[in-house]
This record gives sequence, C-alpha cells and structure tokens, in this order.
Amino acid sequence: MVLTLVLSIFVSLIFLCDKLYHQLTAKLPPGPWPWPVIGNIVDITPVRFRCFAEWAQVYGPIFSFYVGSRLNVVVNNAELAKEVLKDNDQNLANRFRTKPLNIMSKNGVDLIWADYGPHYVKVRKLCNLELFTPKRLEALRPIREDEVTAMIENIFKDCTKHGNVSKILMLRSYLGSVAFNNITRLAFGKRFMNSEGEVDEQGEELKAIVTNGIKIGGKLSLGEFVPWLRWVFKDDDEALEAQVRRLDKFTRTMMEEYTLARKKTGETKQHFVDALFTLQKEYDLSDDTVIGLLSDMIAAGTDTVAITVEWAMAELVKNPRVQQKVQEELNRVFGSDCTVNESDISKLSYLQHVVKESLRLHPPTPLMLPHMAGNNAKVGGYNIPKGSIVHVNVWALGRDSRIWKDPLQFWPERYMKEDVDMKGHDYRLLPFGSGRRVCPGTNLAINLVTSMLAHLLHHFVWSLPIGVEVEDIDMMESPGTVTYMQTPLHVVPTPRLPLHLYTHVE
Ligand code: HEM
Repeated sequence: MVLTLVLSIFVSLIFLCDKLYHQLTAKLPPGPWPWPVIGNIVDITPVRFRCFAEWAQVYGPIFSFYVGSRLNVVVNNAELAKEVLKDNDQNLANRFRTKPLNIMSKNGVDLIWADYGPHYVKVRKLCNLELFTPKRLEALRPIREDEVTAMIENIFKDCTKHGNVSKILMLRSYLGSVAFNNITRLAFGKRFMNSEGEVDEQGEELKAIVTNGIKIGGKLSLGEFVPWLRWVFKDDDEALEAQVRRLDKFTRTMMEEYTLARKKTGETKQHFVDALFTLQKEYDLSDDTVIGLLSDMIAAGTDTVAITVEWAMAELVKNPRVQQKVQEELNRVFGSDCTVNESDISKLSYLQHVVKESLRLHPPTPLMLPHMAGNNAKVGGYNIPKGSIVHVNVWALGRDSRIWKDPLQFWPERYMKEDVDMKGHDYRLLPFGSGRRVCPGTNLAINLVTSMLAHLLHHFVWSLPIGVEVEDIDMMESPGTVTYMQTPLHVVPTPRLPLHLYTHVE
C-alpha cells in the first residue's frame, strides 16, 4: 500500500517536472496545469468553446492544454487565427483522427479526415473543380426550391390544422427535413421522405448511420490519448466495425441503384454520385474514397444548415424589429402576391446581413474542425510542435469586444457600415473556416440558408407562444462538435400572404 503510494507520488513528480521542463524550454503557449496522466481532460466543461473563451481570459488569447499526453492549442482572436490559417496554413492542415474516426474514415481516404498530402490535394481539387462549381450549384437549384416550398406547405398545413389550437411548432423538425432531403437528393439523387414527411426504411437507416457516426466520432476516450491506458478504456471494436459495414452496405446499394438507373435511361444527372462515377477513373478514386466523400457530404451538410437557420430564427423572434425589416425588404423585392425565387435572392441585401450576423454569434461549428500540426510551427511567438492539435475558437472571434461594437447585440446594420466577408477572407468572421481546409460547401450552404429564411419570413410572421417572453428563450448551446440550441425553438407562425401561395404547384 505504502509502496504504491510512494510510487504514484514519484511518477506524478516525474510527470510534473517533465511538463515544467517542456513548458519552459519548448516555449509552449501558457495554459492550465495538467494533471498527471490524464492532462486537463477533467477541467474541460461540456460546452468546450465557452470553456476555452473563459480560459483565454485567464491565460491569454493563445493557450495550450493536454488531453492525456497530447498537446492541444487554442487560438481566440483574429490575428492568431490568421497565423494559424494563413501564415501556417500548410503546416497546420492535418487532421487528428481518433481510433474510431480512423476506422470509420478507413485511414482518412475521404476528404474531411484526410491528412494534408497528395490524396487530400486530389480530392479537394475534385470538390472544387467538379462538385461545388457554380454551374452544378445552379443545376441543383430546383431541388433546393422544391424542398423549401414543401417546408412552407407543411408548416402551413400544421399551423392551420383544426386540432392545433395553440399553433405552436417546433421549427427544428421542419428545418431538419429540408436539410436532409436536400443533401440526399444532391448526393444520391434520391428522396427518402414521402410528401407526408414519413421517412422510408432506407432513409431511417441513413439517419441512424449518420447519427451513430457523429456520436462515435465525437467521443473523447482517454485511452485514445494515453496509449498504455487503452486496456482500461477499450473501444467497442465490434460496434465500430458494424458501423463501417452499415455505411458500406448503404452506399453500395445507392451506387448499384444508380448504375441500374443509368443503364436504363443512359442519362447523366447533376448529383454527386453521378459525378463521382463519371470521374472515378480520371481522378483514380478507390470505391472507399467515393463512399467516404458521399458520407462526408451527408455528415457535414445536414446538421450545419438546420442549426444555422434555427439560431437565425431565434434571433428574429427575439428581435421583431429586424424580422419586420426583412419582411419589408421581401415585399419590396417579391411583392406580397408572389413567392420567393432563388435567382432574386441576391437582391435581399438586408437578409444577407441577417445571415452573417447570425453566423457571427452562432457559428454551428464553433471550434471549426480540429487541425493537427504536420510540422513544427510558430504561432503568437510560441512553438507548436508537430502532432499538436490546433483549434480556432471561431465563436470567441465573433464576440471579441475589441473588434465588434456591442458584440452581444444582434444588429445586422453593422454590415451596412462595413461589409465583412464571411467566406474565409476576413479573420474576424470565420464560420466556414479559412485557408486550404475552408468549407467547400460554403456557397451551397449560404444559398440554402438564405433561401430557407427568405421563404419562412415571406410566408409567415413568427412570434413566441402566449406567455413566453423573449428572455425565456434559452440561447445556450448543446455540447458537441456541431452546436444546436440546447432547447429547441418553439414558435407560432401566422400566414401573411394570400392563401393560394401556400400550396405546392407542380
Ligand atoms: C452553414 C453551414 C455550414 C457551415 C457553417 C460549415 C462550416 C465548416 C467548417 C468550419 C469546416 C472546417 C474548416 C476547417 O477545418 O478549417 C467545414 C468543413 C467541411 N464542410 Fe462545411 N459547413 C457548412 C455546410 C456544409 C455543406 C452544405 C457541405 C456539403 C454539402 C459541407 C461540406 C464540408 C466538407 C466536406 C468539409 C471538410 C473540408 C476539408 O477538410 O477539407 N459543409 N465546414
């Protein structure tokens, strides 16, 4: 007993001396003192970007901490974000894959989890030159319009149906359907939901695969970071392999269905599975890469879009002045006897400021996705050793009072004075990241989010249920890599256009 105690104290002392030596000689960013073996894992509170913003007040805008023995660095202001994403773009462009992520991405043969290198450059080029081109985005416009119109029709049906006396709706379920249908039609050319909103068996399977994948991928297991503790914190290898098998089976079925359909009609379409098949030889893509790319799009493009619109709607319900101003603009551009069409959305400059303002305060991936140093780098005068995980706290950037006047106020007018880019060129506002790993779906996402908001606000006035005050809206985020509102938004829509504009005309 005494021997064990002495031994533990001895090991802890060695660990602390080693860390102290490293901190002083390696010139690492300052940060909380790590516990032996586990590092700071127990100090991190669940909503990590809020925890990191608080730590930045104590340790400064760049700080470091340990998860097990793995060094993590967090930057919390625009100048440092630029150093990470521009000056050190290539050095810090790898990804850290936990064991589950490594297995699910088959050693990073997809895009999201690929390290920076020849494979990454190849698939990224494919995305930029083939999948996310303005031409393809335009060709996929009818899908977006179709889904957004169906959402309006469903909301109208539900809020005017007899049994619904209170008229209260949980907006998230409608937003989730648009995002899901849009992305499955874009990726696979297939809709898994019928007009009643019922998801078929294949669609349920896809949803389960994505949810399970995000759950497994987001887990922080100590065994991951302290190799000799792996026998204690065992991963559930069987569950992992089952997940991989499910995803493979699902995607292969989609690919077979697609091949059959193409043989029958001989037609090519604009969706991604079609493009990937056509380009598979030219780009020398393995089947695993095709599967990986398709599942990346579903994982990255569904929740993020629904989350963005839910937060924006919460702000618009909290700020009726802004909501009314958007509706005046919609009336000016489309009139009050006409629906919105996407080709004129560029004329809605105030609504575009609203989207920007919402993404400033509520970026759906507040810490972006973690980068990993592929080489030693220097940021803020500190050393970032190869292998460190680097996080950019985009949420803190958007609330930096040195940069934003009244940062917590939802005030879209701020962009009338100075238009701030949000696609990765201005380091004050980085909801889509920046540099070589910037989100390839940026334009698609902005189009869809703006179109969803334009339709929601043109067709309905949105208010809170009777008895609920603005202060009662819970503006806290849920923990996780993507941050939904902790409490789903419940709102009351009141139609504001002539009734014939609420039914879908084929
Ligand atoms: C409002 C919606 C969206 C937001 C805020 C968003 C944001 C982001 C961010 C912050 C990153 C990480 C950048 C980095 O690591 O430096 C990312 C990566 C990515 N996003 Fe998006 N995204 C959105 C929608 C979409 C959509 C609709 C798609 C595709 C259909 C998509 C596909 C991807 C992919 C494939 C990556 C990985 C890129 C890479 O590692 O090179 N995203 N996104």
